[in-house]
Amino acid sequence: MDTTFSTISAVIKNRRSIKAFAMNGNKIPNGQIAAILELADWAPTHGYTEPWRFIVYENPQEFCLQHAELYRQNSMGDNFNATTYNNLQHQGDKASHIIIAVMKRGNLPKIPAFEEIAATSCAIQNLLLGATALNIASFWSTGGMALKPEMKSFLQFAEEDQVMGILYLGYADEYPEGKRIIPIEEKINWVK
Ligand SMILES: Cc1cc2nc3c(=O)[nH]c(=O)nc-3n(C[C@H](O)[C@H](O)[C@H](O)COP(=O)(O)O)c2cc1C
Repeated sequence: MDTTFSTISAVIKNRRSIKAFAMNGNKIPNGQIAAILELADWAPTHGYTEPWRFIVYENPQEFCLQHAELYRQNSMGDNFNATTYNNLQHQGDKASHIIIAVMKRGNLPKIPAFEEIAATSCAIQNLLLGATALNIASFWSTGGMALKPEMKSFLQFAEEDQVMGILYLGYADEYPEGKRIIPIEEKINWVK
């Protein structure tokens, strides 16, 4: 196989989700974060709506405290769980950067929201693959308040926009093996 294919295939197959608490606290240079964001910007986009938006936190603990506080404000009384609050507050303690990925609806209504979500997902994957190529560990989370409307308004996005996830980036001492459960043959229908 040609070297470009084998390089990209190794990066794609080696990308693994590594939980933020399994990161080691080492900092990623901001220039590398900017470089992987530039890869995100080259995702395919229907009608050039380029719907991906990224909020970069150089200090993950700042976002995590805000995330925990959002949780507190929206779980009054018996719904509040101190362990959940604590987990949210300390989730990023060992990450280097947090990037919130958001789909911002463009002004071409003929392009359905799912296409904007698809384009933003491609942008996120570009970013994750760039991270992998730089030996940066990553974790895409939709946990906590990520998908709640309160998070969207906290980030100052509109109702028609979609928070796609919280991306934790850092370094790890160990990178786990990947696995797939459903055989690839079951996912592909070759029509002759
Ligand atoms: C849209 C999306 C949201 C995800 N949200 C979470 C999450 O909230 N919590 C979690 O543990 N993993 C989450 N993941 C990561 C998956 O669990 C992970 O990709 C899966 O286990 C496969 O592992 P791999 O990425 O190492 O191949 C998410 C992945 C995607 C694509």
